[in-house]
This record gives sequence, C-alpha cells and structure tokens, in this order.
Amino acid sequence: MKKNLIQKDYKKKIKSLIYYNQRYYNDNISEISDSDYDELKKDIINLEKKYKFLKSKDSPTITIGYKPSKNFKKVLHKVPMLSLGNAFSQEDLVNFEKRIINFLDKNDGFEIEYSAEPKIDGISASLIYKNGKFVTGLSRGDGKEGEDITENLKTIEDIPDHIKSKSFPEEIDIRGEVFIKNNDFKKLSNKFANPRNAASGSLRQKNPAETKKIPLKFIAYTFGHEKDLKISLQSEYLKKLKQWGFKTNPLNKIIIGVKNLMKNYDEIEKERESIDFDIDGIVYKVNDFKLQKRLGNVANAPRWAIAHKFSANNAVSKIENIEIQIGRTGALTPVAKIKPVNIGGVVVSNATLHNEEEIIRKDIRIGDFVVVERAGDVIPHVVSVDAKKRKSDSKKFIFPKKCPCGFDTIKEFNKVTKKLDAVRRCPDRGFDCDKMAKERLKHFVSKEALNIEGLGKKIVENFWHLNLIRLPQDIFKIDYNKVENLEGWGKQSVTNLKYSINSKKNISFEKFIFALGIRHIGLENAKILSKNLKSLKNFISLSKKNDLSDLLNIDGIGETQINSIKNFFLNDTNKKVLKELEEVLVVKDVSTKKNDGFLNNKTFMFTGKLSGMSRAEAKSLIEENSGSIVSNVSKKLNYLIIGEKPTKRKVINAKELKIEIIDQSQFLKMLNKIS
Ligand code: IVH
Repeated sequence: MKKNLIQKDYKKKIKSLIYYNQRYYNDNISEISDSDYDELKKDIINLEKKYKFLKSKDSPTITIGYKPSKNFKKVLHKVPMLSLGNAFSQEDLVNFEKRIINFLDKNDGFEIEYSAEPKIDGISASLIYKNGKFVTGLSRGDGKEGEDITENLKTIEDIPDHIKSKSFPEEIDIRGEVFIKNNDFKKLSNKFANPRNAASGSLRQKNPAETKKIPLKFIAYTFGHEKDLKISLQSEYLKKLKQWGFKTNPLNKIIIGVKNLMKNYDEIEKERESIDFDIDGIVYKVNDFKLQKRLGNVANAPRWAIAHKFSANNAVSKIENIEIQIGRTGALTPVAKIKPVNIGGVVVSNATLHNEEEIIRKDIRIGDFVVVERAGDVIPHVVSVDAKKRKSDSKKFIFPKKCPCGFDTIKEFNKVTKKLDAVRRCPDRGFDCDKMAKERLKHFVSKEALNIEGLGKKIVENFWHLNLIRLPQDIFKIDYNKVENLEGWGKQSVTNLKYSINSKKNISFEKFIFALGIRHIGLENAKILSKNLKSLKNFISLSKKNDLSDLLNIDGIGETQINSIKNFFLNDTNKKVLKELEEVLVVKDVSTKKNDGFLNNKTFMFTGKLSGMSRAEAKSLIEENSGSIVSNVSKKLNYLIIGEKPTKRKVINAKELKIEIIDQSQFLKMLNKIS
C-alpha cells in the first residue's frame, strides 16, 4: 500500500476512536461493542508498529480514554490512572509471563504469584483520603487528569467517609470500580442501555441528590499515591482494604502458573451469568510489589498486570440484505446477511431474524446497524436495532407473501394461543416445493436420520441442481459415472460415497420415520410411533385409512401429529417416495424389547458437548439399558449429564429442582457398573 493511503487509513481509524471515546466518556453511550473497540485500538497499534512514520497525539498508546467533560472541575492525578493490556488466549498469557520472566532475567521455571481479580465492568474512581477522611474523589478522565466528582461519590454507601483504623496511611488514593448490580439495574427505568452506562451516567449527574437515588456500589482494588503504606503484596493490600471498611471482590484469588490461571478463568466464565454484576474478564497482577516496581510500565499500561478478557458474545454490524430461507417444513425464515463481524473468535455473517412478526416488532430494515448475539452453538440472532443510525431514505422491509416455489404462503391458526402463527409458511407441499425438497433431502441423509457420510448439505444441493437426486430414493440409484466426472470428484471419493450409501440401506424403523421429515415428527415422536406401529407395512397402511384417530391412544401422540401425518399421506409424491423407499431399503421391524435394563424408569438429559462420544451414541447406550431421554428439565428428570460448555440455564434449573447432575465420566462409570 502507498504511504498516503496508509496514512489515510490510520487517520480514519484515529478519528473513529476519538468519536467513540467522546460518545462513551461524555455521553455515556457505547456505539460499538467492547470487542470492536478493542479491535480498533489493536488495528491502530499494529499500524503504528508496522509503519514508524504514523504518529498522532490521539493514539491509544498516548491517551487513555477521552478528555473529561466540562461540567466538573479538572484535577491532575498525582499518579496517572493507567489502563491494562488485554489477553484473549492461553498463548497471550504465556507471552505475558515470558515477557515478565525475561524482563526480570529469571529462569524459565520461575514461579510468579498472581492476584487474580475478576474485572468488574463499571467506572473507575480514585478516592483521596487524608488523615482518615475522604477529601477528594476523581473520575479517571484521560488517565492524567480526572473530574472532581467528590460530592457524587460521597452518596455511595460503600465509600467510607472516615477511617479510624491505625494501620490506615496518613494519605492514600484508593482506587476501584463504581458499578451497579444487575438486579438493581433491572429495577431502574429504561434510561440506560446497560449497567455500566447507568453507573457512568449517575456518577456524572450535576446534582448529587440524583446520584443518591441510584444504588451505586464500590469495590476497591488498587491505589495511586500513598504516604506510609507498609505492605509488600497485593493480596495483603486487598485484606487491609477489607479491614479499613472497603468492599473487595469476593472472587479474588491468589494463583500460580498460567495453567491455573486458565482453570480459574474457565470456572469464572461459567459462573459469569449467575454473578450479580457484570464482569468482562479477569485482571492478573504480579502479587509482589517489589517485582511490580521493577517491572514498571510500558506506554500507559503496567508490565506487571494484564486483563484476560472473556469472549464477547455480541457485536454491532450492518444488515446488507435480508434473505428468506425455506425450511424442511415450509417455514419462511428471514436471515440477515450482515457485514462479517468477529464475535468471540467466530466470524459471523448470517443472523436469524426468526420470523415475519419479529421483523415487524423490531422494525428491522436492510441497511440497519444491529446488535448481533452469538451464544454457544445457537444460531446468531439480531438482538436490537439502532434506529438512530438509520438513513432518512430507509424503507420498511416488506416480507414476501409468496414462496420462491411460486405458491402463496399462509399463516396457520394456532388453536392454543387462538392467534395466527408468527411464522409464515409455504403450505406443506412436500417435495413439490423445490426449496423444501432440498431441505428434506438434507434432513434425510443427516446425522440423526440415515447418517450418510460424505453426502453433506453442499453436495446434496449440488446433486439436486444437477438433477442427480430429486427424491430420497434417488440417492440409492445415483449415477456414479456422472459423479466421477464432476469437478472435485475422483475414483476414490466415488467409491467411498458408494460404500457409505450402500451401508445405510439397512435402517431401523424409527430412524426411517424420522428421516421422512414429517412436520411435528421429530426423533422422540418417531420413536413412539415406531414402538407402537412395529413395522413399515403398518405405517404405509395408515395411508389407506381415512380415520387415524386410533393413533390418539398412543401416549405422546396428539392431534397436531396426527393431522401432520394425514397431510403427509394426502400428497401423492410422498406416497411415491414411501413406496419406492420400501423397495430399496431394508427397514427393520421393531422387536418387542423388555424393560428389564438397569436404567429402567430412569430419565436422562444432555447439555454441552461430550468428548470422544457423540450424543447419538450416548443416547443409544441409555436406551439399550431401558433408560429414556427427555428434552427438558422438569421434576421427571433423574440425571442431567453435562459436557463441555453446558447451557447454564439448564444447569441452574436442574439445581433448583435438586436433580442429580453428572459429568461424562460419572455417566460412563454408571454404565460400566452394568457391563
Ligand atoms: S487495576 C494499573 N484492578 O480495568 C492497573 N483494574 O483497563 C489498572 N478494573 O481502569 C487498574 N477491575 O476500571 C484494576 N481488579 C482490578 C480491576 C480493574 C476492573 C478496570 C479499571 C481500569 C480498567 C483497566
């Protein structure tokens, strides 16, 4: 890139940074997510590192935050209020520790003791005490100069006005975080977007009586200048703070070694949702003040501390388009195609908008800036729209009333809610709607159905367009010669595909029913139906009956499922599919299994990823021993099996209901007992 273009890019980035800082520090508004802000700062720093000619007085390596607002008197900090470098991974921590060891010229095995302090996401404040009396309270401002917000800080109960303890230094600047508890935040009116903004906003009220109305809290964690403070460790300082009457973070710990830092990080990240204040990472500080002093600072951050950030789970991005996807059951799902954005380490470019009603309710439009959230394995979704950033010529999104297959769509009447469904659908035309047909084929070969390896979604889509497969039975009659001549295919891959298709010709009745993709017949219902109907013949004979009300006697099958099965049989293509599949597949009848297994009457549920074993395998192990799987946490559940990254809500619910929670190894032990 040319020098002037680099300069232009750099200046643009600095300008954005100034703007976001000013919005944040003066107006209490976060226009971009924390992760995007960190990324912008990182980009600028990297550019400066790469191109030495880039310089700006507003570079994040020089200033911290934005200049304080004009409402308050400015006061210089005797000791600057520094910022912290960020770590996002174990590798970053290893490097942080290496830098310290090198700096101190110690051997590789040198053990460093850290004070690990969950990082509260609030507003930092500096409290100056003289002879035990709180005299001046400052905001951070730009790190060098803060705002005098003494009167507002005085309204906070956690900030002692007088400290009588003999060990309290003659003069000290106690520093910590002002924040608001999530529960208290919920009780406030909707004036602020999040607890952090609420804390910041109320600290900047001109009238302290207004600040007093907000239940602000204060947690202390460090100090600026001091006279006569006789301690040598951060952990000792934290203890002293408590003795003096300050609150400290109850989750603070002393930890040695990166491995243990990681362990603590994982544990706290899991607990994060159940903590009543927002934390956005963990701060690690070298515990020994002597070492801290030796290490000193680099630019505006100490060498002896780092903030290990939790992965962000939302970000702001722009909707570039809204596409309508047609699912296997005909539901029209609007999907926002967004400008790719990194959310917690994953690049997201699609976010679901759920359904037509959701678009109307939130008034989501193409071109809008939206907050997108990604949590665990769940599909990213649009949380909110920033209508202020909308252009004046922006137009409401008109949801299509026709399916791309040409058919008019419908909204069904929901008998339970007595309302029209939120979801718009292509009437169930089975394989006659091209979009649905492709989705049904993908479902047919999917992991939980026939589980045909090597026939993934993209390949199904491609084969469909090439007319190689249109209906499920076509899969077993594929013209392999044609496949071999396709781009990306060769003799070996065709042999593999042939093998995996042929090996799935023997299938259980239950899987077969599920694979058909009948609406409202998921894995559980397919199992119930197969147990009761026993054979494919009996299932097919249902198609000749006018009245299926007999099925109502089956526990778990209701009118919704029966109507759906009826609909399925009303469609001639479906009947043809069934008939031809019966010819090519061997569908095993259900043999009556005795309920004499060791897990009889026991119910299980999974949350999180298992290791070295699929859920399907674990399920069948349970079922082989007469246990059963349920799909939600209720009193009927006996065991909740937790794997990696479990859904916190499920675990909390299970704890509340006193359900036994076991991990994978306990589950395997349970099974081993019987084998
Ligand atoms: S120490 C020199 N300790 O994180 C060290 N900061 O980006 C700087 N924070 O402005 C402060 N919890 O607002 C420290 N236990 C903790 C903290 C903490 C939250 C905030 C603080 C600071 C920012 C640094």
